[in-house]
Amino acid sequence: SVAQSYVPEVNNDRVKVKPIVDVKAYTFHLSEVHILASPFRQAMDADLKYLLMIEPDRLLAQFRSHSGLQPKGKKYGGWEDSGLAGHTLGHYLSACAMHYGVSKDPEYLKRVNYIVDELEECQKARKTGYVGAIPKEDTVFLEVSQGNIRSRGFDLNGAWSPWYTVHKVMAGLLDAYLYCNNDKALKVEQGIADWTGEILKNLNDEQLQKMLLCEYGGMNEVLVNTYAFTQNKKYLDLSYKFHDKRILDSLAMGVDVLPGKHSNTQIPKAIGTVRRYQLTGEKKDFAIADFFWTTVVKHHTFAPGGNSNYEYLSKPDVLNDKLTDNTMETCNTYNMLKLTRHLFALQPSASYMDFYERALYNHILASQNHSDGMMCYFVPLRMGTRKEFSDQFHTFTCCVGSGIENHVKYGESIYFKGKDGSLYVNLFIPSKLNWQDKGLQVTLNANLPADPTVKLTINTAKPQAIPVHIRKPYWLQAVPVIKVNGKATQTIAVDKEGYWVLTNTWKNGDVIELTLPSSLYSVAMPDNASRKAYFYGPVLLAGNLGTKEPDPMNGIPVLVTGEPDVKQWLKQDASDPLTFKTQKTGFPGDVTLQPFYLLDDEHYNVYWDVFTPQNWKEQQKLYEEKKKQEYALEQRTTDYLRVGEMQPERDHNFTGEKTEAGESHTRKFRVANDGGNLVFTMKVDASATHNLTATYWGMDNRGRNFDILVDGTKVASEDLNKYKDSKFYDIVYAVPATLTKGKKTVTVTFQARPQQQAGPLYGVRMVK
Ligand code: AHR
Ligand code: ZN
Repeated sequence: SVAQSYVPEVNNDRVKVKPIVDVKAYTFHLSEVHILASPFRQAMDADLKYLLMIEPDRLLAQFRSHSGLQPKGKKYGGWEDSGLAGHTLGHYLSACAMHYGVSKDPEYLKRVNYIVDELEECQKARKTGYVGAIPKEDTVFLEVSQGNIRSRGFDLNGAWSPWYTVHKVMAGLLDAYLYCNNDKALKVEQGIADWTGEILKNLNDEQLQKMLLCEYGGMNEVLVNTYAFTQNKKYLDLSYKFHDKRILDSLAMGVDVLPGKHSNTQIPKAIGTVRRYQLTGEKKDFAIADFFWTTVVKHHTFAPGGNSNYEYLSKPDVLNDKLTDNTMETCNTYNMLKLTRHLFALQPSASYMDFYERALYNHILASQNHSDGMMCYFVPLRMGTRKEFSDQFHTFTCCVGSGIENHVKYGESIYFKGKDGSLYVNLFIPSKLNWQDKGLQVTLNANLPADPTVKLTINTAKPQAIPVHIRKPYWLQAVPVIKVNGKATQTIAVDKEGYWVLTNTWKNGDVIELTLPSSLYSVAMPDNASRKAYFYGPVLLAGNLGTKEPDPMNGIPVLVTGEPDVKQWLKQDASDPLTFKTQKTGFPGDVTLQPFYLLDDEHYNVYWDVFTPQNWKEQQKLYEEKKKQEYALEQRTTDYLRVGEMQPERDHNFTGEKTEAGESHTRKFRVANDGGNLVFTMKVDASATHNLTATYWGMDNRGRNFDILVDGTKVASEDLNKYKDSKFYDIVYAVPATLTKGKKTVTVTFQARPQQQAGPLYGVRMVK
């Protein structure tokens, strides 16, 4: 019955602790929803093939070697051969378990069971309860347990976000328990949870909060779920030890502390609190998640539904200048969709599913190359850019991990069931719902936006009175036609949740048919009304600029039109309803727009600068000049380091002594204290001379004397005391040609004098 089922991921009898709050809508079990032929099905099939190409023994290699056992395969490369080693195994367990949940395909079950057996063997060999593959994990966690905590954004005692990876492994095991009925998986997971308790048992609040300065993934959520499965309250209590007060207490009070924060570090924290609210009723936990969702979706999200630039959030509604090759980390949207489902269950509303649909079609689906299943880490939004997909066995970024899950679970939110036994139809993805409790099937046939017809065919042994709630999509501009068995219904009002409600008694073979015509419309940047993205119904259209990189000076088109209504100048192809062409509007030439999710190797524009002819006449020169300057700087830049940001620092082999990262004036910085240093590598051109440009903030002036060295040779001495205004200063230092000649990279050192600081440094650019 409905009462036995459960909110979001955990919707069956294995979940022992039921919510004590009023859950208004429940998910179906994954096995009850099957995706039919569609781009989603295609993406799912590509992902499933990839899952079978991955070898569990290779993912397990370091789990075994770290447990003193002989590996049975060679470890994978990429991030599996880095500080994040082991994260993919967790996602892999989840993805295979969920697909088994959907399909009952024994091949995926076999893999899940095998991995669980192997992890159990590792756990037994270790004897502590822990299993993992993180470099230096034993020392790191020993130090932490002793209260010796050195914590920065992504670094805990020299390890890369270790709790992030622990969470992935635990979550994978819980999914194996939930979707594959593997009881051993819960036992192994509980072993890790108990070990977590041991590690943290002697830490006081201050020490815990210090530890939480480093990203900890969804540790709070997974511990709440462990409580839900076991009914053992100690896991719920333990979840509070992963509560970063600095961020979460501000969010609880409705304060947007997100500008400048690392997005994917924060989203799981909110998922954990909303999940805990369901089981405890603690209102503060709900307030955090609710405010977080609204803030991110309404103020930090690009038109396709993704967020972040170089993984970070900017000031609210300041997105215009953030269009780079490193926008929209895919993990962020994976997590935002999780959060959305939890909130929808508590307060169903079309606005949640409007976001869900936008992000699912235009970020998640668009992040995969549907021919081979490879995935994007970032989905870039720079004009003229293109997607960069993972390599099968040499990448394994965080987004490959979450990505392999993304495409197996397209069925999870199409339908929900209301607590009163009603049915929610949230998304118009071709699918078949087999509602077991009711003995009712619904087949949803649709091909939006190419075809406006959405058909729901009901099969039931006996007539049933089930209210059917159908989401009125935000993009619908025309008056919809809703027919039951071919007969147009009286105008159906939209209820306060934003759904049409049909309250018929359904008989076998009844058909609900909706006509939901898509229209063209634009979505502007919040901080620039003239920079726009274009949509057709739910689908983002991107300008297809071809597979050859467009000339950055005159190959990236702008739109020039005095007509604000896009329907007047963007015309549908007569033979393909998903292809559109600008009509004498593109400059320097007209452009073809297609669904963003269909583009693989092509360069594209998602956002367009739009000018009126008059504006263009006045601004063309200026616009092109600005583009030229930016391009020239880009061309002359051999390397740029975004100081204080995790991935860029890692890419530049950052090390240092007595360093600290932080954030001021909405930019990240790093500083070396008390005679310490900042050391990193930068690419150079073997045959050119270079300048090094460093960015400082003018008021950061006293006690900041340091030298700048290139490959050990001093190129400048700096005293920041001379920069007195409150603004950013870009200071240029000449690098003698002898230091870079014949080299591909050099090591740059910012060395503080004794008792002085080097920095704060906000960015370093090497320019030839
Ligand atoms: O640090 C682990 C993951 O890797 C982060 O959440 C993601 O943003 C990063 O790149
Ligand atoms: Zn990621």
